[in-house]
Amino acid sequence: MTLPSDLLEAARSAMNNAHAPYSNFKVGAALLTADGQIFSGCNVENASFGLTICAERNAIFSAITAGAKDFSDMVIISTGSALPYPCGACRQVLVEFCTTEFKIHVVAENNLEVIEELTLGELLPKRFTL
Ligand code: THU
Repeated sequence: MTLPSDLLEAARSAMNNAHAPYSNFKVGAALLTADGQIFSGCNVENASFGLTICAERNAIFSAITAGAKDFSDMVIISTGSALPYPCGACRQVLVEFCTTEFKIHVVAENNLEVIEELTLGELLPKRFTL
């Protein structure tokens, strides 16, 4: 699948709104639904560090809040040059709502030519379920 440029743009725009004064590491995530809607999120840090929320969780919580259900892709972009793989907590939150085929595209702001695509099943092969 070709990455829709508006999904990348939504992630980049969210990244630019990140509140990251403590790490100086901005992250943006944009989630695509099966019917073409886009929901985005950025990391929001707090002086009480443990209250920080990642971009990916903000994106999916925003989508769930709006009533969206079927998700196909997520783009994650960050400042810097390293690819921003989602943290373990975000992977577990994604498996609550997405299939193992859900695609995650990671890209770094300083190296936009390299976009790695992974499935959620690859990123979290043994998910916790109840
Ligand atoms: N962060 C994310 O937004 N997503 C991740 O998957 C990993 C980390 C944020 C949290 C914090 O604001 C900053 O990156 C440094 O950890």
